[in-house]
Amino acid sequence: MKSFPQCCTSLLNRACDLFWEARLGIRTLGGESSLHPDAEDYGYLAYHTYFSMFDRLALQPSDVVADLGCGKGRVVCIAATYRVKEVIGIEIDPSLCAQAETNAARMRRRRAPVRFACQSAADFNYSDVTAVVMFHPFGADTLREVLGNWRRSLQARPRVLRVVYSNPLLGSMIAGQPWIELCECWNPSTWSRLKFPVNFYRSVPA
Ligand SMILES: C[S@@+](CC[C@H](N)C(=O)[O-])C[C@H]1O[C@@H](n2cnc3c(N)ncnc32)[C@H](O)[C@@H]1O
Repeated sequence: MKSFPQCCTSLLNRACDLFWEARLGIRTLGGESSLHPDAEDYGYLAYHTYFSMFDRLALQPSDVVADLGCGKGRVVCIAATYRVKEVIGIEIDPSLCAQAETNAARMRRRRAPVRFACQSAADFNYSDVTAVVMFHPFGADTLREVLGNWRRSLQARPRVLRVVYSNPLLGSMIAGQPWIELCECWNPSTWSRLKFPVNFYRSVPA
């Protein structure tokens, strides 16, 4: 059973989520199960959490932001309210990807170009990406491939890659890589609007 502070903060999050859905003119609510092996079901965090993450990253006009497993595009649309070079949504499920495209096409207050890739995050070309966001989207097999992909991309095009991983159940796999370091951890407290831990990583220059 939820405690009183949890009920209050969840209600506040829900009210704010409805406000932001109306303000941006998008529909990202509702869960959806995934049919793909090693994929987590569609789910989301509160708008408040994503805005806090992007504010913490202090996104710059040179940043290219990618949401790995973008679902219906909530994070993509939020990132696109910042003045960045590009926002990319990567989603393995064609139906979710189509809904994300619809949302991005009709969103209000967009300040950045947006594009989508309907494919596995394991196979995406990350050469332009400087900031990655993930809400525990897949299992260890996929994450292993994604990490190898990031490393090759950083070797081919050295740059700083920042990674924000919410509900970091496989955080130890990332922390175990010598070329990336854990910089900051957020943990939910009693009256926090944050409902899952969030880890911030940064690639280490070779
Ligand atoms: C927990 S949801 C997160 C949705 C969205 N990022 C958000 O925070 O609102 C995880 C999403 O990852 C997608 N996914 C799972 N495995 C994937 C993969 N290998 N490549 C791309 N997307 C994947 C799922 O279909 C699902 O939509």
